[in-house]
Amino acid sequence: MTARAAWQALIAARGWQRIWVPSYFCHEMTDAAIEVGAEIIVYLDDPLEDRTRLPPVADEPGEALLVVNTFGRRRPSAQSFDTAHCELIEDHTHDPLSDWARASQADWCLASLRKTLPVPVGGVTWSPKGHAVPDPPTAAAAELQVALSRLAGMVLKRIYLEGSPVQKSEFRTLLAATETGLAKLRPSAAPRWASALVDQIPVAAWREQRRENLAFLAESLARAKRLRLLSAADPSGAMFGAVVVFETPASAAGVEARLIEQRIYPARLWPLDGLALDLPKPSVELASKTLFLHCDGRYAVSDLERVARALLDAAERTA
Ligand SMILES: Cc1ncc(COP(=O)(O)O)c(C=O)c1O
Repeated sequence: MTARAAWQALIAARGWQRIWVPSYFCHEMTDAAIEVGAEIIVYLDDPLEDRTRLPPVADEPGEALLVVNTFGRRRPSAQSFDTAHCELIEDHTHDPLSDWARASQADWCLASLRKTLPVPVGGVTWSPKGHAVPDPPTAAAAELQVALSRLAGMVLKRIYLEGSPVQKSEFRTLLAATETGLAKLRPSAAPRWASALVDQIPVAAWREQRRENLAFLAESLARAKRLRLLSAADPSGAMFGAVVVFETPASAAGVEARLIEQRIYPARLWPLDGLALDLPKPSVELASKTLFLHCDGRYAVSDLERVARALLDAAERTA
């Protein structure tokens, strides 16, 4: 039901023993691979570069390479990947409807739908090369409970934001507890209601709203000092949110604190320091000076006006 669980199911089905993973990546995915016994080989990948530089795989049976469209801002690698054994997996979580995802030639693609759409769960796997996708087992009651509780948290938050007198703690507790619960989900099929929910979402309109929101932010922050808003390398791309890179970790932390005072809550993608894996310094540094702001289809340009003002003001006042 999560991308992590779909990933674990794929690793088990394909029997991959060694997986090449980019240095700047969602550590929960790396942990999930280690948990099912795969050896992780980290390759240097800089999301500030438009394309991944493919690492020198040994091309042995049991080997796989994961390439990520990080932040939904990247283009497919310019290098061809012609191997006898090593399978290519692409993670399209951050822009599942990109031209790249649609025209992919990879062995496998996967995505977490909840990062770009208002759904509580949903990890999807497909194979552009036409490999048979493993059938996940039916979800157990405890797993369904996590998905339903998360859905309840999302609904309560929505009606709170619309002005209903819901206690903030009601949805915060549910959302925090289910985030932990999601981490423990085993590979299982998403419930039918989750697929029905996805079918009802105007996914193209949600994607277009992200593009509009980001275009507005790009214009608003064009002359900002001491910060850089990343943009999509391919103009048709729809990044999954605003990725703002500061000059130092201290200024990112300072701006983060000021935004929180304004009740704007940036995310950190991803805190890479202190992980068991030995990661290259540039990736850890980039993570520590980057803030992520949501601007998906829940938000309109009018919401982003407040965010842009707060960001400019916070950057101005943070040395
Ligand atoms: C690129 C990427 N892939 C996969 C995941 C994991 O998704 P899920 O929470 O559905 O397991 C994340 C989560 O942050 C992500 O950013």
